Amino acid sequence: MKHSADAFFGAFPPVAVLNRINYNVEGVNLSGVFLKAIDNTAPAALIGTQTVAFKQGKTNLGSIKVVTDETDSAVFFARFAEANADMAAIARKNAIALAAMADTVSPKQTKIPDDYKVWCTEMLDFLSEKRRFIETNISPFANDFSQDDVSQIMADLEKTSAEEWQKLQLKGNDHALPFQYDADGLRDMKQLTERVLTHELVGGTNWHRSYFKPMGYPGDFQIMNYMYDHQPLGDTFYSKYLHVLGLISGELIVQRMNYIYDFVCNMRRSTPDSETLHVMSVGAGPSRELIKLLKESPELAHGFSYTLVDQEEQALEYAISNCYKHVSPIDTSMMISGMHTSFVEMLRPNSTFRHMPKQNLIYSAGLLDYLNPSLSRKLVSKLYAFLKPGGSLIIGNVNNDPHGGYWQMEMALDWTLQFRTQEEMYDMCTDCPDGEAKVELDKSGAVHMLTLTKPA
Ligand SMILES: C[S@@+](CC[C@H](N)C(=O)[O-])C[C@H]1O[C@@H](n2cnc3c(N)ncnc32)[C@H](O)[C@@H]1O
Repeated sequence: MKHSADAFFGAFPPVAVLNRINYNVEGVNLSGVFLKAIDNTAPAALIGTQTVAFKQGKTNLGSIKVVTDETDSAVFFARFAEANADMAAIARKNAIALAAMADTVSPKQTKIPDDYKVWCTEMLDFLSEKRRFIETNISPFANDFSQDDVSQIMADLEKTSAEEWQKLQLKGNDHALPFQYDADGLRDMKQLTERVLTHELVGGTNWHRSYFKPMGYPGDFQIMNYMYDHQPLGDTFYSKYLHVLGLISGELIVQRMNYIYDFVCNMRRSTPDSETLHVMSVGAGPSRELIKLLKESPELAHGFSYTLVDQEEQALEYAISNCYKHVSPIDTSMMISGMHTSFVEMLRPNSTFRHMPKQNLIYSAGLLDYLNPSLSRKLVSKLYAFLKPGGSLIIGNVNNDPHGGYWQMEMALDWTLQFRTQEEMYDMCTDCPDGEAKVELDKSGAVHMLTLTKPA
């Protein structure tokens, strides 16, 4: 098994010196080390048994014998020539060497305003105080509570914290938003935030998953489901509490979904029952608005031909299997299909989407947040072309308003998005000049909902 250099040595691995050339250590396994030329060029042939020395700064950490078999690529594997090569000793010496130079390797922050540091302390104080309260008054009785007691306690802790937590977050926006377009300032403030606050918050399940992004990208369907399910997950009362704070912070995800749910319900109400409504969700994720329609408004859940598009197979499997739990096997008026593909496929001139019937409604919530202005305009214009006359396109996109979700997403979770202004939402419609565009806020106030309607 390969361990990354970070996992094996910590954040500052030593440099390997082979034939007087420095290589970064990329990884380590039981049989050798992965080395990478510092200038990314493939090394000249180094075939055969050689000595690799390791250095941290000016300190020599020791050396081992390795055999290099093949050095054609910039990253190459060097096998240990001896069975007992002691990499653990080198890692220990690396840690000792780092301690002596901690002042030079620690990040230097140049642009963090003092009032942001004060605010981070206020946040941390809020969390420490809640932790103390929970650990003193609630956790000692953890084994005595019924499941209902636990649910009640967590609901009450949520109720009694929500206002203050929201206020604190909004203050975070006031500090962070002025740095939105200042790359150095943002980097420094994020580093401080991650060390001081994210470090604490990731004790909660949703913060942990959102920050570490185990599926390799933010906003995976499981994170969405945490927000929709609104359950106090966690092993301890304090970790449940942190998760609950994350649910408060993630309310925008739920409200964005509710906006679309309401739109779909109204569309069905205002359209004759005999007319099949063609609806497409792009970046559909778990499709909870559709599951909600089927579950909570069965009287409206008929006469739909629904297409869910997502690049994530697991999200589509979740969505379709959960939708069909609420559709009777004899109901032929509800058709739900998944298209496992990227929206990029839609942009190809000969894309498979050209065979789709024109749609009454297309929506995309939480996908264009990742796309730059030019790609957003292209996608919006393509989706607009897929609409029937009179059809609507809805785009949900996070905003950069002071009452939005900028601090928690960008600063605390390193969840970088295009936080758009209202003008930037209208800019998405540039290539659809005959469409009627309207931008409103969802109920959380953190998401712009753009509706673009094609003339009938
Ligand atoms: C933030 S989630 C939003 C999911 C859903 N719309 C919601 O609001 O619950 C974004 C979704 O877009 C999907 N996605 C990301 N990149 C995509 C791409 N290139 N093409 C299609 N789907 C994509 C992800 O798999 C994820 O399910």
